[in-house]
Amino acid sequence: MAQKDITPTGKEIFFPENEFIVSKTDLKGKITYTNILFEKMSGYSRDEILGQPHNLIRHPDMPHCIFKLLWDTLQQKKEIFAYVMNMHRSGDHYWVLAHVVPTYDLMGNHVGYHSSRRSPNRKVVKQMQSYYRDLNNIERKHSNVKAGMQAALDSFNDLLKEKGTSYAEYIFSLNAAA
Ligand SMILES: Cc1cc2nc3c(=O)[nH]c(=O)nc-3n(C[C@H](O)[C@H](O)[C@H](O)COP(=O)(O)O)c2cc1C
Repeated sequence: MAQKDITPTGKEIFFPENEFIVSKTDLKGKITYTNILFEKMSGYSRDEILGQPHNLIRHPDMPHCIFKLLWDTLQQKKEIFAYVMNMHRSGDHYWVLAHVVPTYDLMGNHVGYHSSRRSPNRKVVKQMQSYYRDLNNIERKHSNVKAGMQAALDSFNDLLKEKGTSYAEYIFSLNAAA
């Protein structure tokens, strides 16, 4: 089943705080590895997942601009932490704090990406829900997806500037304050 054919149920599901949901991709974001918890939380078997693009588990309520930020950061060969809401094949959803990094082979060639996701702080999830709703509203004001994404990203960058902080510092400050 394609992600676009799944209707979100609005029901949140959880995974243990001391466990990580792991996946690896090639340079284009096609999945090359998943751990057992990934399969459990996505509802797909490893055979169904491998080779699929990572938007297989995308939730439609995630703002486009967060993924733009993710890909822009990764393409500069930098790591990124991000709060992401993902969707199980049933339409249920779960929140993660993802840490995504570029990966290299033994020769030092950049070959793909690795994401490990932990269970996020509940207070931060509440903040993110409201913040991502604002970003979605900005994006939806534009009929053109790219323009909407850029406008939402600009507003995000303005917020960071106002706070005098970087994206990474902002994410960590949320966690520390919660
Ligand atoms: C290593 C890695 C892990 C990713 N993990 C997720 C994820 O957990 N959920 C998600 O929706 N997108 C994830 N993405 C981003 C997807 O590739 C994609 O950009 C996103 O789902 C948006 O899809 P769309 O362009 O179809 O809107 C990941 C990408 C990489 C490289």
